[in-house]
Amino acid sequence: MSTTQSPNASASGLEGVVVADTLASDVDGARGRLVIAGHDVETLAFTHTFAQTAALLWRRPEEGLERALGEARARAFALLPRLGDALGAPDGMDALRASTAHLGADFDGPEALTGALAVLASAWARLRRGERPVAPDPSLGHARDYLRMARGRDPSEPEARALDTYLVTVSDHGLNASTFTARVVTSTGSDGVSAVVAALGALKGPLHGGAPGPVLSMLDAIGEPDGAVPWLEAELARGRRIMGLGHRIYRVRDPRAAVFERAVEALEAHGVATGRLPLARAVERAAVGILRERHPSRALHANVEFYTAVLLDSLGLDREAFTPTFAVGRVAGWWAHILEQRAVGRLIRPASRYVGPGGASPSPAP
Ligand code: COA
Repeated sequence: MSTTQSPNASASGLEGVVVADTLASDVDGARGRLVIAGHDVETLAFTHTFAQTAALLWRRPEEGLERALGEARARAFALLPRLGDALGAPDGMDALRASTAHLGADFDGPEALTGALAVLASAWARLRRGERPVAPDPSLGHARDYLRMARGRDPSEPEARALDTYLVTVSDHGLNASTFTARVVTSTGSDGVSAVVAALGALKGPLHGGAPGPVLSMLDAIGEPDGAVPWLEAELARGRRIMGLGHRIYRVRDPRAAVFERAVEALEAHGVATGRLPLARAVERAAVGILRERHPSRALHANVEFYTAVLLDSLGLDREAFTPTFAVGRVAGWWAHILEQRAVGRLIRPASRYVGPGGASPSPAP
């Protein structure tokens, strides 16, 4: 006789399940260490450009990559008039997903799609402000040109460096939800554009890449360090989670948070007005303390999104553009995994356990 159970009874979220071998990155959640393509993130983020990091991830020569990305940006910009209303969506990730879906087989490659995403994300950022998209300058570095296109003015050297730091730091992070999604789609033999469209859908969610905009809104709502505790308590009393806190893998502070703090400090040292760092630090301290009391057995610390909000805001990007900017960096990692998955060539097809009535088999369905 079969008994019906809650469908949530076995909802493990695949925690700890190894699905792939990879050369892209390694996350040590207990020690708070992130290695991307053999380099500690704290070093890579300040010594490599985004294109140099992409070359490491794609295991291709660095030479010629900036040029290939620039050419891809120019090709994507020429396509904008043919995208219909795809970039008219109010949500940046909806717009990025819809516009990326328009790309054809000639964008099915790491350089082409990485170049295209920077153009689509920046064009959307301009259009939502009622401004015309800015054409790429293929002679510029990828990070600098993205910031220039998104803001409509040339960044200073320290600003361009800070965006490189951001894009390098978020380029890959183990088998996170969007990367796993890209691998699943690739494993079916589908194309790279489809894999990236699906990954964009996964990245959009607030439990993955959708948190940094809400983090900035939280800092705005709190206003002053003294306001942190009451605001956070009220949020938790409403049954909400604190955005930018907690992580599936890290049991200590996310190492990327420290990288972004350092990047904001470097901007301040160059006279860029950033402003929010003291408040962010006070809110982080308060949130960690409150969450420690509520969840003594579950260490909840700041994750990548917490200081993403402060860094990207300091660079003059609108909060609505934060998650699309995350995609502009993470697409490098998606492609590293797409290429690896193509080489593996085996369908990813896990099993579910049927807990309803009239089951046909005592074991997981084939
Ligand atoms: N605020 C409040 N409580 C939190 C929390 C947060 N940010 N993150 C986790 N918790 C609580 C959960 O409610 C849960 O409590 P319970 O056991 O009483 O139900 C407990 O901590 C364990 O959380 P769990 O849901 O098992 O963690 P997870 O590994 O599934 O989730 C995140 C990881 C990132 C999805 C989660 O920490 C979260 O939602 N953070 C906020 C969103 C965010 O910052 N996203 C960006 C991620 S990089």
